[in-house]
Amino acid sequence: MTLRNTLKQPFLNAIAMLPDRAQRAMLTPRMRRICIHLPVLRAVYSGCLRRHPIDLQYGTDTSGLVDALVLQRDERLVHELNPYMGSQPTIIRRALDTLGDIGGYTFVDIGCGKGRPLIVASEYPFAEVLGYDISSDLVETANANAAAIARRFPARPPIRAVNANVANLATLSGKLVVFMFNPFGPDLMTTLLRNLEAGLASGAIQHLFIVYDIPVCGRVFDDSTYLRRWFATMFPYDPHELGFGPQVEDGVVIWQSVRGARPDAFTTRNRRITTKDRFSAVVE
Ligand SMILES: C[S@@+](CC[C@H](N)C(=O)[O-])C[C@H]1O[C@@H](n2cnc3c(N)ncnc32)[C@H](O)[C@@H]1O
Repeated sequence: MTLRNTLKQPFLNAIAMLPDRAQRAMLTPRMRRICIHLPVLRAVYSGCLRRHPIDLQYGTDTSGLVDALVLQRDERLVHELNPYMGSQPTIIRRALDTLGDIGGYTFVDIGCGKGRPLIVASEYPFAEVLGYDISSDLVETANANAAAIARRFPARPPIRAVNANVANLATLSGKLVVFMFNPFGPDLMTTLLRNLEAGLASGAIQHLFIVYDIPVCGRVFDDSTYLRRWFATMFPYDPHELGFGPQVEDGVVIWQSVRGARPDAFTTRNRRITTKDRFSAVVE
């Protein structure tokens, strides 16, 4: 590990501890426009270190940015996985709102991190809300957040986060909504797809939606004969979430399985995905 890598996470943690007033002063739009292009400062100016409105609302801990090398020290895995940062709740809600009736479905966040999407999914009548992450520390935090939500909203579906590398997941089953916020690169994405295809081929998975926020590896799913497009758009951040994540809008593409498919409902579902780099993809 280089000295820069060793110092980066403590530096980010120290910035995250600054009072919100100090962080807001640092994040004026003009400063942000310039600093977001500078190495290391890019992470600070992503806005991920600020305490997100959802955490202020629920007293949970889903904010922060955790470097890939902190998540996973295995050099063979680290180049494939992306750092932890939370996705924007309003984008998750708008995506889930396109699906229609999800009664009886299980929500699965692949690379759930601290579990922000799990909290949002628990607002919906899923049978169960599940998350998998390679970092045991993040999974511990996600389960503490889940407990806080269960205490406050006992009628919501149960939330559970599990420490696992998705490369080794047992075949999933039932009716599923699989959510991802740009967790990793194309090799792991292909491994995940093969797992889902096996479940569809055997009938273990009856119907499947894949909701992919920042679909950098969207080609992997477009090429599968087991899937077809359901929805594709750029969703802008809600005004109250602007400055709490690196972008101002996210591309979101949704696929559904051919098995058990619902009638097509969105004419713009086949919009093209242009991947700019490993952190950004635009739906055109
Ligand atoms: C960008 S974060 C997304 C967090 C969360 N889904 C959200 O939207 O707020 C990506 C997460 O994927 C996890 N991840 C990366 N590779 C993984 C793997 N092979 N197995 C399980 N989790 C993985 C990382 O640890 C990280 O927490």
